[in-house]
Amino acid sequence: MENSTEAVLIRPSDKVLIYHLRDVVRTREAEGTGFRLRVPSLQIAMGEKIALIGHSGCGKSTLLDMLAFILQPTESGAFRFRPERSDEPIDIAAYWDKSRQNHLGDLRKKYIGYVMQTGGLVPYLTVRDNISLSRNLLQMTNNDKAVEELAGHLGIRRHLDKYPSALSTGERQRVAIGRALAHRPSIVIADEPTASLDPIAAEKIMNLFIELVDELNITVIVASHAWRHIKKLGLRQLSHRTQRTSDGKLTETVVTG
Ligand SMILES: Nc1ncnc2c1ncn2[C@@H]1O[C@H](COP(=O)(O)OP(=O)(O)OP(=O)(O)O)[C@@H](O)[C@H]1O
Ligand SMILES: [Mg+2]
Repeated sequence: MENSTEAVLIRPSDKVLIYHLRDVVRTREAEGTGFRLRVPSLQIAMGEKIALIGHSGCGKSTLLDMLAFILQPTESGAFRFRPERSDEPIDIAAYWDKSRQNHLGDLRKKYIGYVMQTGGLVPYLTVRDNISLSRNLLQMTNNDKAVEELAGHLGIRRHLDKYPSALSTGERQRVAIGRALAHRPSIVIADEPTASLDPIAAEKIMNLFIELVDELNITVIVASHAWRHIKKLGLRQLSHRTQRTSDGKLTETVVTG
């Protein structure tokens, strides 16, 4: 029995949950019709690769924005975030309190990378500076080397001193991926990162993206319409179902996973 404590500590089945949500709800209202996203239970373990695949309007961005602490849940039974194995889970629901919202911004900056559907690059910064943004905000060192290495992996090293307007859509998406990964976040959230690309380019970039997060051991959650090639990448798919009330006034999507 001497080693029992150690055995418990290193048990490989022990999963550290980066997200733990219970009974989280977000409602949105526009012109008399309402939308509600309900998450009875969602648990994402560190290192997992998650896909959320669904039609337009089903609530993908709503969920991702909540997971990135951009959108406040209307209700939450529990919303815990544990970006570091060695730390205790953080009670995000309590952080939405006004006096502590700046902590949410800090957590986002440090631990989350977000790839937006439209890229969201800063037009007046070069590719190099766009990719360095998150590192600069965290006052990380050795930026040039890290950025060049990442740009090499993404096949955009030769574009580092150009502005986004001089790049193709696919190249811009690669820059957006680089920017989300440069500060080595614990988790990368990608909202349809390849939606504006043709299917072949989309598949290529998605493969590269998943390869990179795998190599860097970063947890990833990606929303996409692209059923086919996402399936090939072996991501765990969150299940969801959308229903409309009989009077047509409320659409509700329930997500679990
Ligand atoms: N700012 C907002 N105000 C009110 N309703 C909103 C707002 N943003 C989204 N909605 C509604 O919430 C629902 C879910 O939207 P969401 O953007 O999460 O969907 P999505 O799955 O990301 O769609 P898409 O695939 O088109 O990006 C939609 O019915 C939408 O009309
Ligand atoms: Mg969306």
